[in-house]
Amino acid sequence: MSSNDLDRNLVLDAVRVTEAAALAAFTLVGRGDEKAADQAAVDAMRTALNTLAIDGEIVIGEGERDEAPMLYIGEKVGTGKGPAIDIALDPLEGTTLTAKAMANALAVMAWAPKGTLLNAPDTYMDKIACGPGYADGVIDLDLSPSANVEALAKAKGVKPSDITVCVLDRPRHADIIASLRSVGARIYLITDGDVAGVMNTAEPSTGVDLYIGQGGAPEGVLACAALKCVGGQFQGRLVFRNADEKSRAERLGVTDFDKKYSLHEIVRADAIFAATGVTNGALLDGVRIEGGFAHTHTLVMNSSSRTVREVRMKRAL
Ligand code: FBP
Repeated sequence: MSSNDLDRNLVLDAVRVTEAAALAAFTLVGRGDEKAADQAAVDAMRTALNTLAIDGEIVIGEGERDEAPMLYIGEKVGTGKGPAIDIALDPLEGTTLTAKAMANALAVMAWAPKGTLLNAPDTYMDKIACGPGYADGVIDLDLSPSANVEALAKAKGVKPSDITVCVLDRPRHADIIASLRSVGARIYLITDGDVAGVMNTAEPSTGVDLYIGQGGAPEGVLACAALKCVGGQFQGRLVFRNADEKSRAERLGVTDFDKKYSLHEIVRADAIFAATGVTNGALLDGVRIEGGFAHTHTLVMNSSSRTVREVRMKRAL
């Protein structure tokens, strides 16, 4: 598969995979059991992947082989007869959201030609993102949150107080929040789910202009795949809390621990991105059981054709 010619048939295959994970996770919505919900989504996603005519390798998955029996980094999936692809996935992005029946839980996955997705370790990543339509470099991870708001407001032709910034509600973000408040930005706090948080910046109906904060590095790669398809800017820097996290990164080939990655360094070729809603959210409806059918809602995007499709599926129960 050429890096600029992702097989268009893969788009519908990707939808089937995230639909399967979302349907499985839905059975555990509101049941207070994060682990069971995640496991159900993992099992369903892995089963769906293994029916496909792809030569897939998990690059972003459930963890390293010794800690994740399924969908671990390096696991081969698919029949092996088909395009060679890197796979980034999170069968359930928002395990707590699912367990508590809160908004914005998703099943997500991205595909790109083999060797083109960043092998990010399961550490944190400092992230900043904005939607499409701005000059390159309008935001910069090395500037303060307030300076980024001012720069984006200027580019958008509005006041800093008209800018809305999505931030994960965590104590570690107290300084970011104080900096944003100092210029009067509106802050849209989320309890979990920063793949959707980043994607919000590219969807005008959410009202979110900017995403800032520290979340999972694997989620950063998934969010970049989405922005690669719809446009927008992203910068990320891995954050290491101890020597073990650094050695995990080294094992995955990271040599420069302080590197500021751009979107196009994280996703180095065209990608397909799919997300199915588990619970209702700003971007997607969650799974719904009605009239003897299970209904799903999926966004699937292909950066090579610059297409975004919304797919609604109903399956008889
Ligand atoms: P899970 O689905 O694995 O629970 O992750 C949810 C999430 O909110 C991510 O979206 C985010 O990147 C990460 O957790 C933030 O980590 P933490 O909860 O440690 O702040």
